[in-house]
Amino acid sequence: MTDNQVFIFDTTLRDGEQVPGCKLNMDQKVEIARQLERLGVDIIEAGFPVSSPGDFKAVQAVCQAVTDPVVCGLSRAVENDIKVAGEALRFAKRGRIHTGIGTSDSHIRYKLRSDQATILERAVAAVKYARTFVEDVEFYAEDAGRTDNEFLARVLEAVIKAGATVLNIPDTTGYCMPEEYGAKIRYLRENVTGIHKAVLSTHCHNDLGLATANSIAGVLNGARQIECTINGIGERAGNTSLEETVMILRQRPDLGLDTRINTKLIYETSRMVSDRMGMPVQPNKAIVGANAFAHSSGIHQDGVIKRRDTYEIINPLDVGVDHSKIVLTARSGRAAIAYRSKNIGYNLTKDELDLVYARFLEVADAKKEVEDGDLNTIILATTTRT
Ligand code: KIV
Ligand code: ZN
Repeated sequence: MTDNQVFIFDTTLRDGEQVPGCKLNMDQKVEIARQLERLGVDIIEAGFPVSSPGDFKAVQAVCQAVTDPVVCGLSRAVENDIKVAGEALRFAKRGRIHTGIGTSDSHIRYKLRSDQATILERAVAAVKYARTFVEDVEFYAEDAGRTDNEFLARVLEAVIKAGATVLNIPDTTGYCMPEEYGAKIRYLRENVTGIHKAVLSTHCHNDLGLATANSIAGVLNGARQIECTINGIGERAGNTSLEETVMILRQRPDLGLDTRINTKLIYETSRMVSDRMGMPVQPNKAIVGANAFAHSSGIHQDGVIKRRDTYEIINPLDVGVDHSKIVLTARSGRAAIAYRSKNIGYNLTKDELDLVYARFLEVADAKKEVEDGDLNTIILATTTRT
């Protein structure tokens, strides 16, 4: 690991799969895990083994299907959960148990009906027990986003002593603002004794649309692992999206951080997950949405046709999309008509372009999008071309 490497912990198969109605079968989980390995993720969270026999088997199958990434299984800070996770990971080349407990006042008082001292004891016991199965133990402080920083620091200090190798700071409810989440990571880095022995990890939810911004704020303040999912899928409004965080770090070398992800496989991975989960990607989704590289207004089209980077900060090829799209709508201008006409074999003269454009606007006002077939008909009807 170099100091500027950020580990990508993909939880599509665990937190992502918590989307209602998107359950994957074992073969689909294995297929996606293999794709995540090709993509270059560092850690695959394959499931929550104690949750069902099917998930247990799926975690085992993922362990056997991949060799490069660490395979991780989730467990609560409950002895049986940890034991079952340990068993499911038995055949992993490199296995990690991800165990933890709620640390915010709300979780301690209302969900766990407990107190801080007991939570601290349970956290330590869980990590120690997990270490009897694997060397790599990640601890999550659930609802860390709303947890008092001093208590959080005490818990983390104790679990590091107990053998935790990674410390997950989840903004479970997606409540934090980026400055706040970044400051929390910085506070922990500066105030937890022994912090250099562990990797700090971000795990952000998207309830306020801030998951990506919070994860980036986290790594800018010293976290070195991002927990994320393909297409940002997950509970409620979802998790941090892998493609967004990876491309932010790749497109902005000035941030001084990067990942091992082969970005050229991002688009095909996004399609695979969307298809297997039956979960469409919104068209305007950053990086992988159908419109992410589509230009429809005349001003933008003119710019992009002259030089791509006037309106595109990412080369579509870098994420596995083979070209940008010039979409013909009533907002398109002559440059787009000339460009698309050329693509279908017509080098229009200026006079021809004027005639085609006039008719095109009538058609475009009646239709949402003018396709190549429509354009061909317009050209044949308004010029002497055959
Ligand atoms: O959001 C969360 O807090 C989680 C933990 C179980 C890691 O998913
Ligand atoms: Zn989560």
